[in-house]
Amino acid sequence: MVSWSNIGILSGLVAAVAKADSSFPTIEVVGNKFFYSNNGSQFYIRGVAYQSDTSGSTNATFVDPLVDKTTCERDIPYLKELNTNVIRVYALNAEEDHSDCMSLLQDAGIYVIADLAEPSLSISTTDPSWSEELYDRYVSVVDMMQQYDNVLGFFAGNEVVTNSSNTDAAPFVKAAIRDMKKYMKSSGYRSIPIGYSANDDSKTRVASADYFSCGDDDESADFYGINMYEWCGDSTFQTSGYEDRTKEFSNLTIPVFFSEYGCNAEQPRKFTEVQALYSDEMTDVWSGGIVYMYYQETNDYGLVSVVDDNTVSTMADFKYYSSEINNISPTSATADSASSSASELTCPTGFKYWDASQDLPPTPEEQVCDCMSASLNCVVSDDVSSDDYEDLFSTVCGLVNCTGINTDGSSGTYGAYSFCSSKDMLSFVINLYYEKEGKSSSACDFSGSASLVSGSTASSCSSILSAAGTDGTGSVTGSFSNASGSGSGSTATSTGSSESGSSSSTTSSSSKSAGGRTYKSENLYAVVISSLCAVGALTVLVL
Ligand SMILES: *[C@@H]1O[C@H](CO)[C@@H](O)[C@H](O)[C@H]1NC(C)=O
Ligand SMILES: *[C@@H]1O[C@H](CO)[C@@H](O)[C@H](O)[C@H]1NC(C)=O
Ligand SMILES: *[C@@H]1O[C@H](CO)[C@@H](O)[C@H](O)[C@H]1NC(C)=O
Ligand SMILES: *[C@@H]1O[C@H](CO)[C@@H](O)[C@H](O)[C@H]1NC(C)=O
Ligand SMILES: *[C@@H]1O[C@H](CO)[C@@H](O)[C@H](O)[C@H]1NC(C)=O
Ligand SMILES: *[C@@H]1O[C@H](CO)[C@@H](O)[C@H](O)[C@H]1NC(C)=O
Repeated sequence: MVSWSNIGILSGLVAAVAKADSSFPTIEVVGNKFFYSNNGSQFYIRGVAYQSDTSGSTNATFVDPLVDKTTCERDIPYLKELNTNVIRVYALNAEEDHSDCMSLLQDAGIYVIADLAEPSLSISTTDPSWSEELYDRYVSVVDMMQQYDNVLGFFAGNEVVTNSSNTDAAPFVKAAIRDMKKYMKSSGYRSIPIGYSANDDSKTRVASADYFSCGDDDESADFYGINMYEWCGDSTFQTSGYEDRTKEFSNLTIPVFFSEYGCNAEQPRKFTEVQALYSDEMTDVWSGGIVYMYYQETNDYGLVSVVDDNTVSTMADFKYYSSEINNISPTSATADSASSSASELTCPTGFKYWDASQDLPPTPEEQVCDCMSASLNCVVSDDVSSDDYEDLFSTVCGLVNCTGINTDGSSGTYGAYSFCSSKDMLSFVINLYYEKEGKSSSACDFSGSASLVSGSTASSCSSILSAAGTDGTGSVTGSFSNASGSGSGSTATSTGSSESGSSSSTTSSSSKSAGGRTYKSENLYAVVISSLCAVGALTVLVL
């Protein structure tokens, strides 16, 4: 993220010129607005959500929307007809080549905001973690997408917090933001903006926006999206709720936009909210929005319906949205004015419905788990199916104290090994039991699920293991001489950020984490993609 000073525009131009390989302007954040890097003009998002729905498939597969060149060639003319400058994609396959679609999009002046998660690998609402596995997934998408100048940003999570009962999931998303910022920096990538996409829950929405945008630049979100379904049918700025939301978000110090919008309670959708969204009443606070969604599916939010690989037909909504979005002329702020209003927001305190610690989970470090795992003398047997881990966790955690693998995002306490693989964590607690029982071989059994091995401690592991403590309740942060993330062997900077370093070594296990750790993240992501709209609309009706 470029920090614009009074000579911000000048340095921006210099940076753009220095970047000789491309003249396509990246989008940068200054204060609470987006700007083109080449000329300092304000950038408003005129977006369309672009991914076919995945919730129907029970096995959580998804169709990456940016892999098939034919599909992109088919759809981009329609996106252009809709004056689109941003698409949001929810799940990408990092193994695939995206260059054809990305360059077609760039030629059309269209930027991409990509969610880093995918249906089977996302931060869970009810059993959140920021694990090695998620870290690797996020890094793989960042690695794959960072090369394209028309990537506007990333989402580190979509509706992970759903209401006041699960705000303790927020620190895990904020840790993901922190670690991807750190990773991009240490990898020498462009600092691509990264944010969070929230639902529109009346009790948590303001505290949530404050939580993600507040604090040190190393860990705060660069932008904030809210999935907004309040304006249904022929509403108004005042009666829809938009006016109140605009007031509530007016102090936000980072760009905020509708990461989804378009209530479908009345059909066809006439999109009268578009004029309000890009009018002076809103543009000082909001940076536009992303219409949900391109494809017509069972949830009935489509702008087009697919006929075949080469053909789509436009829906009634297409015509209405097109005429609205092609008829806006929002005023353009300057980077100077945005910069002068930028200030740091203080983190939320005293919100009745917000209970999320500012102390974030540690950066997942492969080396920590490797050192721990190599040191054990009693481990889960290789032939135990991972389906059985959950039962084993509850058995073993009834016998030993599992604080070293548990997390609590409300109090901000995180076991030193809480980001390791399920197998490593299970072995760790099995070994704790074995040691507690005086290393009697009968204690390493669990009906054949555990096996004796000869553990060893490499000298390079000793500082990590002693920092973690035998029960894993210590903090390993800062115990590396050459710490790196688990993803890539890159030479990351030290993990000693003040926030994560302050995780204390005493933990009060919350009832949620005590003993009953669930092994497999319950996954709401896929369901969310299709159902949140309906839920969003319903919420409004209920209110
Ligand atoms: C700034 O550059 C963008 C991208 O090339 C362009 O769309 C916009 O019109 C330019 N703004 C001005 C004021 O020239
Ligand atoms: C998963 O879903 C895909 C696409 O719907 C299907 O082709 C595949 O057979 C499914 N796999 C399993 C194991 O159900
Ligand atoms: C809160 O969110 C959880 C998880 O999404 C959900 O199961 C629960 O029903 C929600 N509670 C309320 C009161 O909406
Ligand atoms: C915004 O900031 C002003 C000045 O600090 C304060 O009076 C006001 O209550 C804030 N508004 C919100 C919605 O937080
Ligand atoms: C540095 O990191 C590498 C890879 O994780 C590890 O093998 C090595 O032991 C580390 N060196 C030191 C001095 O800790
Ligand atoms: C587990 O250990 C933690 C940290 O030492 C301690 O605070 C907690 O009370 C222990 N829990 C139980 C159930 O003994």
